[in-house]
Amino acid sequence: MRYYTGVKDLGNLQEAVKEALEIKKNRFAYKHLGENKTLLMVFFNNSLRTRLSTQKAGMNLGMNTIVLDVNQGAWKLETERGVIMDGDKSEHLLEAIPVMSQFCDVIGIRSFATFENKQNDYEETIVNQFIKYSGKPVFSMETATCHPLQAFADLITIEEYKKVKRPKVVLTWAPHCRALPQAVPNSFADFMNEADVDFVITHPEGYELCEKFVRNAKVTYNQDEALAGADFVYAKNWSAYRDPNYGKIISKDPSWTITTEKMALTNNGYFMHCLPVRRGLIVTDDVIEGPNSLVIPEAGNREISAQTVIKRILEDLQ
Ligand code: CP
Repeated sequence: MRYYTGVKDLGNLQEAVKEALEIKKNRFAYKHLGENKTLLMVFFNNSLRTRLSTQKAGMNLGMNTIVLDVNQGAWKLETERGVIMDGDKSEHLLEAIPVMSQFCDVIGIRSFATFENKQNDYEETIVNQFIKYSGKPVFSMETATCHPLQAFADLITIEEYKKVKRPKVVLTWAPHCRALPQAVPNSFADFMNEADVDFVITHPEGYELCEKFVRNAKVTYNQDEALAGADFVYAKNWSAYRDPNYGKIISKDPSWTITTEKMALTNNGYFMHCLPVRRGLIVTDDVIEGPNSLVIPEAGNREISAQTVIKRILEDLQ
């Protein structure tokens, strides 16, 4: 594997999950792969899980790891080409990328949607510039429109906890006070559409996701109907995708919060969320603290999804 930006890069998904579960049994079995190799993790945005889990994954594989927080201590970066740089941005990404690549063998990128221009966000300008100009293997640690390490960890978690061969998995929108990207639901939908699950998406009218990710998933505006008989409930907020509301909040309807009453509609279903989560908006304390909440093991599996991806990248570098 040279690049990891979406489910397609994993090839056979069942085999990828099997490999991940094998890695989980012995995280240090491939320590030789990363000897004298350096992982550079570049963060344009905040992170807790991705930072810790990906760094741990690199260390499990014997790598040296460098974390660069672009907004703290580095020069402020210009990302647009053709601009006169007379503002507060001292360095252009087009020099910064090849400089960064002098000091590493593999690069992970975290960058969020700007919501300023839907086309730019969905063209994934930043990660694609790293792919084009670094000359190194590059993987997404969440970019403008996708979070494939999260979705891979989510699928691993579903595989570990499922009680039936083909579980019903529901992705439900839930209210939030800030406009959030569509990256997590996009990638979750992308993975679930490839997995052996009965996949349903539910959200209020106006929160339709990009067709490229929804594909043939069942979509309903009736959350209760979607939750009926669900084995897994994946709650997430996202801002509107469709024009003219791209990146905007168009509803904060509290009746979409995941409560004990909502979970009672499910098949004793598990609750999932990528974290960080706003309690009282997305989910109630009772649900997230309850016995069917998978948020902590789900976060733990971020180490495994990252390690599987970096292992494959290192194998191709040998
Ligand atoms: N789920 C996730 O990516 O968390 P962080 O933003 O804390 O990395």
